[in-house]
Amino acid sequence: MSLNYEFFYEWTNKNLNLNLAGYKEKQLQRRIASVMKNAGAFTLEDYSKRIEKDETVKQQFLDYITINVTDFFRNQDIFEEFESELKILSQTFPSMKVWSAACSTGAEAYSMAMIFDKHQLRMAEKILATDIDETILKRAKEGMYKIHEMKNVPAKERSAYFDEKEGIFYLKSNIKNKVQFKRHDLIADKFQKNFHIIVCRNVTIYFKNEVKEELYQRFSDSLVKGGIFFTGATEAIYSPEIYGLKKISAFMYEKL
Ligand SMILES: C[S@@+](CC[C@H](N)C(=O)[O-])C[C@H]1O[C@@H](n2cnc3c(N)ncnc32)[C@H](O)[C@@H]1O
Repeated sequence: MSLNYEFFYEWTNKNLNLNLAGYKEKQLQRRIASVMKNAGAFTLEDYSKRIEKDETVKQQFLDYITINVTDFFRNQDIFEEFESELKILSQTFPSMKVWSAACSTGAEAYSMAMIFDKHQLRMAEKILATDIDETILKRAKEGMYKIHEMKNVPAKERSAYFDEKEGIFYLKSNIKNKVQFKRHDLIADKFQKNFHIIVCRNVTIYFKNEVKEELYQRFSDSLVKGGIFFTGATEAIYSPEIYGLKKISAFMYEKL
């Protein structure tokens, strides 16, 4: 039986403030069909009613669709390269405005805050960390992590920036206070301007090509000249010059 995705996209847009039209269709539909089945629904009309009535079903749907996988210092060697680049950049820009877009649990934004602290780099304002998923943003603001989420955090940073209690790691307030979390939909919402660094990793892989291309242009427009766009390990930009960007490494682009 074919499922009425058009109805469902409209419904999620209106009722959940979630615009699914920009996501890769086949991949998205597979995920929706699978999470719907897990909830015991047979049609999308039925599934939407369940989402409406049952907060747990709603949460399962949102968690499954948004895919919140993340890590501190994700892809460590790449992050080390980024750390070196930040130090170089700070010579041109003594005070930097930073955005972690699609930040999930905040691990990426907090990793940057630790780097800023470690090298005593200056921020123009708090790191802006945004995501479409309000539940994950609540978690991010709490700054509490389980041991398996800490695997990439070096021992020195663990003791400098976290307090541990019964296997839970609590971020210290000096790092927590460096990040401001906000709900933001990369497809539907406006972008702020004048960033020196934009980090957006492991989310454009879910978007259609035309949406991705539009996003690259908008990220570029939001950077100051000489600013850096840091993207995911599998998200290399072909012909970055089209967007006014210059490749400086496999995952980093400089605004021309
Ligand atoms: C796989 S995680 C990536 C987290 C982090 N950037 C990293 O690389 O570790 C993808 C994140 O993108 C968010 N997301 C999905 N669609 C989005 C959209 N349209 N706008 C903003 N965030 C979105 C999800 O909620 C999820 O937290």
